[in-house]
Amino acid sequence: MELSNKMKKLPKQFFASLVQKVGAAVAEGRDVINLGQGNPDQPTPPHIVKALQQSAENPLSHKYSLFRGLPEFKQAAADFYKREYNVDLDPETEVAILFGTKVGLVELPMAMLNPGDLMLLPDPGYPDYLSGIALAEVQFETMPLKPENGFLPDYDALPDEVKERAKLLYINYPNNPTGAVADSAFFEKTVAFAKEHNIAISHDFAYAAIGFDGERPPSFLQAEGAKEVGIEMYTLSKTYNMAGWRVGFAVGNADMIEAINLIQDHLFCSLFPAVQHAAIAALTESQECVDELVALYEGRRNALVEECHRIGWNVEAPKGSFFAWLSVPEGYSSEQFADLLLEKADIAVAPGNGFGEYGEGYVRAGLLVDKERLREGVRRIEKLKLF
Ligand SMILES: Cc1ncc(COP(=O)(O)O)c(C=O)c1O
Repeated sequence: MELSNKMKKLPKQFFASLVQKVGAAVAEGRDVINLGQGNPDQPTPPHIVKALQQSAENPLSHKYSLFRGLPEFKQAAADFYKREYNVDLDPETEVAILFGTKVGLVELPMAMLNPGDLMLLPDPGYPDYLSGIALAEVQFETMPLKPENGFLPDYDALPDEVKERAKLLYINYPNNPTGAVADSAFFEKTVAFAKEHNIAISHDFAYAAIGFDGERPPSFLQAEGAKEVGIEMYTLSKTYNMAGWRVGFAVGNADMIEAINLIQDHLFCSLFPAVQHAAIAALTESQECVDELVALYEGRRNALVEECHRIGWNVEAPKGSFFAWLSVPEGYSSEQFADLLLEKADIAVAPGNGFGEYGEGYVRAGLLVDKERLREGVRRIEKLKLF
């Protein structure tokens, strides 16, 4: 059957071929260390699972949720932002519940822009941003994230006509794929840039909780005036290992929140109430599980970086997220190096060019296997005598 022109324009899933290659290697019985994906390996903390179980047994949870979700969940999100970031939010007008932030990031351009409008995206960046571009039929320009700028975009370097035409801008810190963390000064600069050029901001805070070396990644909404220009998307997928549950929320600018809620009124009937109750438990009960998780990732990061340095691979330690952004040795493209690691060392990593042009020269490794497996991975690479 013929599909719509819009469907034909959807971007190809770059990482589908990686998944296929890894699947084929595993099917051959090879012991692949898979660092290619971004799926948390730890289980959801038991008190959150219990909250789901209890709610699932209550017949009230079997009905349609309110269109825009449970008021208690929105209140919990607002309280969470007050407690964690000292940000004040009105739960009714400044919080929108999401089926995971992927949905929010994809629907926002449709809710805010007209076909042909211009968006700004980071390069390298999370590939699903491009899905929203295609569905809304908008145009985009990229903002290079370069190591010399700490993988932050340089707004001053953008051409004037791009600054004038752009209506919506996405940023993401702690960053996937580079592991970079933004400071408050950068967010303040972002607010000033947004005000000067009348651009709406959406900060993807997917790795909010995961900052290393005692540094807590700041929220974009802590910057003065941030709520006047933008929103932040917060997922429970990473902070609480709830990737399969599909739950997150957007917070901030009331007009943008209303745009999200309005489009969602026509797409969904909010989330299964039991998932919302579990999310409330995650946000309001003890946060010890989060501290433990960050310590686990930090231990893995240290093990990986230490081993890489031992074999002479001069990699930078990520400051946050659960990814390491590793520079590729001379003579290889990102894809050639990723293929080499899979073929000769049974290690899967994501080639950096899959995240954009400025990802070339890097591969992304997820800190999503235990320390010993990470060390074993580097020992296998050592045998290739590349460094
Ligand atoms: C940068 C970034 N943003 C958003 C998401 C989407 O998260 P979710 O849809 O699970 O909330 C991910 C998931 O990997 C991500 O890496």
